[in-house]
Amino acid sequence: MSDDEQIVVRHLGPLAGSVLVPGAKNSVLKLMAASLLADGVYEFTNVPDLTDVQIMAELLAPIGVSTQRPEPGMLVMANTGDVTPVAPYELAERIRASVNVLGPLLTRCGEVRLSMPGGDDFGARPIDIHVAGLEAMGATFKFAHGELHATAERLHGAEIALPFPSVGATENLVTAAVYADGVTTIDNAAREPEVVDLCDLLVKMGADITGVGTSRLVINGVERGALRAAGHRTVPDRIQAATYLAAVAVAGGELEVLDARAEHMQNLLARFTDMGLEFDIGDTSLRVVADRRLRSIDVPTLPYPGIATDYKPLIITMLSVADGAGIVTENLYPGRFRYVEELIRLGANIRTTGHHAVVRGVPRLSGAPVRAHDIRAGAAMVVAGLAAEGETTISGVRHIDRGYDDLVGRLAAVGAGIERI
Ligand code: UD1
Repeated sequence: MSDDEQIVVRHLGPLAGSVLVPGAKNSVLKLMAASLLADGVYEFTNVPDLTDVQIMAELLAPIGVSTQRPEPGMLVMANTGDVTPVAPYELAERIRASVNVLGPLLTRCGEVRLSMPGGDDFGARPIDIHVAGLEAMGATFKFAHGELHATAERLHGAEIALPFPSVGATENLVTAAVYADGVTTIDNAAREPEVVDLCDLLVKMGADITGVGTSRLVINGVERGALRAAGHRTVPDRIQAATYLAAVAVAGGELEVLDARAEHMQNLLARFTDMGLEFDIGDTSLRVVADRRLRSIDVPTLPYPGIATDYKPLIITMLSVADGAGIVTENLYPGRFRYVEELIRLGANIRTTGHHAVVRGVPRLSGAPVRAHDIRAGAAMVVAGLAAEGETTISGVRHIDRGYDDLVGRLAAVGAGIERI
C-alpha cells in the first residue's frame, strides 16, 4: 500500500458472476478490543484483510494482546494477562475504533489512558455519550493534553438511557458492564448487526447479557476475571455487500452476492427495489438483477434498522445516474458530503444545503481524476467510475484499503474494467 497508488476504472458493460462478501470491519475491530477482557487465545474467523485490522493489532500489541494471521481470514489473538491500560497517540489517532479499548480496559484494570481517537475525517466525533455512561457507572474522567484518563476501582451497575443510539457508546458500555458490580441497563442502545456480533462474543466468553439485538440491553456483571477467551466468526459486512449491489446497479448485469445477509439490509433492499433492482433472497446470499435505468428515491440516513450513513455515498452515486431527482438527508454526520465535489467533477448534478443533498440524475457520468477522502467515499468513487464514460482515476487509495478487502480484485472478477496501478 502506498499513497502513490491509484485505481483506474473504465465502463466495460454489465457485471456477471458471483462475489463473496468478507467479514465486517466495524465488527472485527470491536471483537479484537474485547480480547482485552479475558486471558487466553481467541480464534476469529471471516476476518477481512484490511489496514484498519492491522492498525488495531498494532494498537493492542503494546497494551498486551498479540496477533497472528496463520491463514487468510483467520486472526488469532493471545492475551497473556499482562495488560497495560495505555493506548498511545501514534496508533489511536489513526483509527476511530481505538475508542473501543476504553470499556474493556477500564473495567478490567480500573484505569485507562487513551489518546483521543481519530478515524475518518468527516466532522467532529465526540465521545460525550461514552463518558456520561461510564460516569454513571462510577468512573472519573480527566482530559488533558489530548489524552483521556479514566479511573474506577470497580465499576457498578447503572440505569443508562442513551440520548442517541450511538454504536461506539453502546459497545463501550456493554464491554464495561460485563465486569461491573450489579446490573446495568442500557436503553436506546444501538442495534446494528455489528453490536449484536460483539454481544454474541461476550456471551460466549461467559458474560450475562439479555436483550441482544433490541434497544434495551441488560448486563448482569460477573466477577472480574471470570470471563474466558472464545472463538467467533465475524458477521458478514453489510456495507461491503451494499457496495457490490451499487456496482451492479450502475453498471447493469446480474450478480450473486455470497455471504450477504438480507436480514441485516432489509430497509436498504426495499429502497433498492424501489429504485428498480430485483432481488432473489437466499439464507446466506442474494441474487441481484439490474436490467433497467434506476429510478430516483428520497432517503434519510438513520441508526439501524434505518438506512446507514455508511451507505449514503453509494446511494448518492446511484442517484447521480437515476431517472428523476432524489433528496438524501444525513442525520448522523452533518459534514459527510465531501465526496459530492468529486462526483460533480464526474458530471453529477448535486446540490447540498445543510444536511440535505438534492441529486438530479444525468444519463451518464464522465470519467475524470478524483480523490477518495474516506473509506465509503472511496468506494463510491469506484462505483461512479463504473457509471462513467471513459477513464476514472482514483487517488487516496489507502482510504479504500482501510475498509475494503480486495475491492478491485472482486470487481474485476465479475467483469468490471478496474485495475490498481
Ligand atoms: C460507527 C461506525 C461508522 C458508522 C457509525 C454510525 C465503527 C468503527 N464506525 O461509528 O462507520 O458510520 O457507527 O453507524 O464502527 N455521537 C455523539 N457523542 C458520542 C458518540 C456519538 O454525539 O459520545 C454522535 C456522533 O457524532 C454521530 C452519531 O452520534 O453524529 C453516531 O455516532 P456513533 O453511532 O457513535 O458512531 P461510531 O461508533 O463512531
